Amino acid sequence: MTARSPVGIRPSGGLLGAEVTGIDASADLSSAMPALLEAFARHHLVVLRDQQLTDQQIYEFAQRFGPVEKHKNRDATGTVFGDVHSITNLGANGMPSLRPGVNENYYWHSDKAHEAVPCLLTMLYAVEIPPTGGDTEFADMESAYDALDPEMKARIENLCVEHSWGYMRETITGRAPTDEERVKSPPVVHPLVRVHPDTGRKSLYLGMYCRRIINSPDEDEGRSLLKQLTEHATQPRFIFTHKWQPHDLIFWDNRCLMHRAIANFDLSAHRRVLRRAVVRGKPEWVGRRSQ
Ligand code: OGA
Ligand code: MN
Repeated sequence: MTARSPVGIRPSGGLLGAEVTGIDASADLSSAMPALLEAFARHHLVVLRDQQLTDQQIYEFAQRFGPVEKHKNRDATGTVFGDVHSITNLGANGMPSLRPGVNENYYWHSDKAHEAVPCLLTMLYAVEIPPTGGDTEFADMESAYDALDPEMKARIENLCVEHSWGYMRETITGRAPTDEERVKSPPVVHPLVRVHPDTGRKSLYLGMYCRRIINSPDEDEGRSLLKQLTEHATQPRFIFTHKWQPHDLIFWDNRCLMHRAIANFDLSAHRRVLRRAVVRGKPEWVGRRSQ
């Protein structure tokens, strides 16, 4: 079987997101790749339902979009994430936990924004989903940019932002990074306004790693501008909510979306287990950077 047929693209009807039907992600997909790439380019979040995938199959599917990223993060047991790894609410003892080892996913972010070369896309496969809730929200940063008034667009055009993994670690998890972690994850600088290499559209590049605007005349003013833009970009009108079903495989474009997990289930009672792979980006996609 090459793919379940016929292949179809079913847009969510909102600003972003589409379900692609008729695809078995573990099959030979050469004939279905154009539809997947088209859905990804147009809708930025692609949902495939009812998949049965091993880690190896997730890895091979992710590789179709580019090289799979390595990770520095560790899970609740202290093990460094593998190429395909779990995102869960489980503690080190394997039980559901109100404060899972990795809880920063519950804050708005774009994956790997703290790296000099942020990633292209993130892929999640639903293994166990709570009976209700456990959703993931996505914010359309291109539409959020478009909706800014011309004065604001002119004001932010050339601003650059320091993104810092250590800053996120301290402000969100309350745990200061170790010296070793600081050396491994130094701050990086990216433009506040990013241009999408495929659509040519501008988008706001924000999220939990943003520490400061480096070329703002006043640091406090820069911080309040970041806050104001984040509040603007995460209004309900720019958000799509993915409601998970077991065996969903989804992937999204980190170049123009922010996302966060929603704690709308009892984290201490229900298991939420996803398998994840991230596909690398390219240096030229982040655009101009000045220090
Ligand atoms: C991620 C992430 C959100 C979720 O895997 O990068 O942010 O809903 N996940 O689990
Ligand atoms: Mn994420």
